[in-house]
Formats: sequence, structure tokens, C-alpha cells
Amino acid sequence: MSALDDCYNVFDLRDAAKRKLPKALFEFVDRSTEDEIALRNNRTAFEKIRLRHRALVDVSGRSTKTTLFGKEISAPMAIAPTGAAGLCWYEGELELAKAAAKMKIPFTLATGAMTSMEKIAKEANFRLWFQLYVWKQRDLSYQLIERAKNNGFEALIVTTDTIVPPNREYNAKNGLDLPFTPTFRFARDILRKPGWFTSVLLRYLTTIGMPRNENYPEPYRRKIGVDPYRIEMMRQDSLNWDDIKIFRDMWPGILMLKGINRPDDALKAVSAGVDGIVVSNHGGRNMDSAAATIDMLPQIAEAVGDKITVLLDSGIRRGSDIVKAVALGAKCVLTGRATLYGTAVGGEKGATKAINIIQTEMDKTMAYTGCNRTDEITTDIFFGDRETNRMAAN
Ligand SMILES: Cc1cc2nc3c(=O)[nH]c(=O)nc-3n(C[C@H](O)[C@H](O)[C@H](O)COP(=O)(O)O)c2cc1C
Repeated sequence: MSALDDCYNVFDLRDAAKRKLPKALFEFVDRSTEDEIALRNNRTAFEKIRLRHRALVDVSGRSTKTTLFGKEISAPMAIAPTGAAGLCWYEGELELAKAAAKMKIPFTLATGAMTSMEKIAKEANFRLWFQLYVWKQRDLSYQLIERAKNNGFEALIVTTDTIVPPNREYNAKNGLDLPFTPTFRFARDILRKPGWFTSVLLRYLTTIGMPRNENYPEPYRRKIGVDPYRIEMMRQDSLNWDDIKIFRDMWPGILMLKGINRPDDALKAVSAGVDGIVVSNHGGRNMDSAAATIDMLPQIAEAVGDKITVLLDSGIRRGSDIVKAVALGAKCVLTGRATLYGTAVGGEKGATKAINIIQTEMDKTMAYTGCNRTDEITTDIFFGDRETNRMAAN
């Protein structure tokens, strides 16, 4: 019996990932920043929303399918960029991308991934999005944009909320800090998880050597652990709306901004000609006082109307969360940790299981609330309006 067989929901996958990964790596994936207020808020905000069961509706023909940027996907769900899948499982990004392709949802490859965009495009090509962190030296970022274009990526997602390195104090305490430097404490931690050591790290060491940030521009494509200047190179505190205009001119495909939290910024995104925004607080990993994304969504969705496609991430763990986000104006959600836990437990199979679990839960919630199609999901399924709903829950 595999560890996956015992997992019935995303929280089970999380527990199994915790048993499998070295503590430092598990915490890198699972935790957030400072006092972890934003992480908790992301969940409680979803949990507080109450829905109403609708009686006696024939929902036997229901479907979670939706159309996103003109093409069909199996559910309003995509994989968020995470730079850690390749450490959770050998070639974890590829495994996760294959699961996404099989399940017919988009996959986002992170700038910091350990698998190259060329490999992903060749082996797991369904709908591929590339997430861009912008280098201080802009022409290096432009090279990445060209590479993503040449590899047929459908969308470019510019992350806007990591302008300074966050205070993830536990990484330092665990002996794992960025720039990644192997320490005695981390080495001891690895030895406690021999399964992970042999199936992931040793496999890399005996094939390609220490994994590298394969999508970094050539001068910086160093092996993980030997790049002390990475943070300085990747300083993002000068990123501004003029950069977005340049990216818009360079990128003919779908352009999205990730980390939009305010209606006025969303309207600026419309003016800059982008196609989509992701309402995101980076899974609570950056600014600890960030509001929950599901709380910010209604104002933003109302401000932009149909002018731009609104997506959301941060805190998605259950299919009912997707239904709530769609009701409040998101066309699609992205999952970060939920699908990473699955990848850590069982590679492609584990990621597929995570997607399956969430989609099945979404399907059930649609059935209970009497929705046959995703465009029938509105705030009408809520108990009371948005405000009374919140008050009833408090
Ligand atoms: C381990 C990890 C690494 C991440 N790396 C990136 C990254 O490289 N770029 C990025 O834009 N977001 C990154 N994120 C944030 C995710 O894209 C996403 O916004 C977040 O995980 C959503 O919250 P959730 O984990 O609660 O689903 C990362 C998240 C995690 C958990």
C-alpha cells in the first residue's frame, strides 16, 4: 500500500508530505512568513463563507468544465508557480506538469524551477504558463521572455508581490536559507529522511549533479547552493508599471499580473493592456499583514467587470473554495501547496490525486448548491449576502 492510498483530502496529503520530506524542506513549502497570520487568514476567510443547499434541482448533467482565455479546461483550476516541486520529488515540476496536462488544467512553471522550460514544453504540453521574476538587469528578463515565447508558452505571469525578500525566519532556523547554503543542521535533517535522500537528492547527484535553476539566464544558471548573489541579482524593488508596458510590447500571448490586491491596481492593469490578474498574497508567504484574497476579490472583480480576466490564489484546499471564489468573480483559481503536497507524496500520481480530490469536491459542492455549469455559480448560493454571510459566521 502506498502513502497515497491513505490520503482522502489535501490535509492528508499534507500530513504524508510532512512524513516524507526533510523538516526544512517541508516547512519551506508549508509555512509562510513572520507570525503566519496571512496564512491562517487565507483559510479562515474561506471557512467563514456559508452556502445554502438548493433542493430538487436536476444536476445529473453537471460539469466543472469552464472556458478560460477562449479554451476549455476541466475545472476553473490551474497550477500556481512554485520553485520547490523539483526538490519535493525528482523532476517534480515535470511530474506536476504531466499531471496538469492529464487533468486538462494549465500549469505554471516558475522562474526558480529546477526543470527547464524546453523540457516541460516537450514532455508535458497542455496549456503552459511561465512565471517571471524580474532581474535588476532587465535584459536578462527579456531573454527569459523570448525563451518562453520560443517554447510556445501560452501565458506569461509577472509576479508583482515579491519586491523584497520576505522574513521567513524558520528557513534560517532550519539551516535552510536563501541563497541556499547547505548547513550542518540541514544535513542532519536530510539524514533523518533517507527515503527522500535516495529518491530525490541522490538521484540528482548520480545523474545531473546538484539541481540547478534551469530557467535562469546562462550567466546565473548556477547549481543550487553556490550562488550567493542570487537575491541581489533578483532585487525587484524597482519593478513598476513602465516595465509592464515593455512586457506587453514583447509578449504577444496572454499576459497576467500576479499579486494584484487593490481595485485601483486592477484598473491600472487594464490600462496597461494585460489580459488577466491573479488576486494573490503569495499564499501568505510575503507580507504577513496581507488581507485574505477571498475577502479582497469582490471589490476587485466589481471594479474591472469584464475588462480583464480575474483569477485568485492563496488558501485553496477544498473544492468548495473554488466554488466560493467563482461565485465572487474569479474565473479560475491557482493551487500552490495543495498540489505540491501531492507531488511530494507521489510525483505525477500524487499531483493527479490532489487535483482529482479538489475537482471531485468542487463537483459535489456544485451539486448541493444546484449548479449545473460554472457560470451558474453566483453569490445566490451564499447564506445571506456577502456581508450578512460574514456576520452570521462570526
Ligand atoms: C514552496 C512555494 C514556492 C513558491 N514559489 C513561487 C515562485 O517562485 N513564484 C511565484 O510567483 N509564486 C510562488 N509561490 C506562490 C504560489 O504561486 C501561490 O501564489 C501560492 O502558493 C498560493 O497559495 P496556496 O499555497 O495556499 O495555494 C510559491 C509558493 C510555495 C508554497
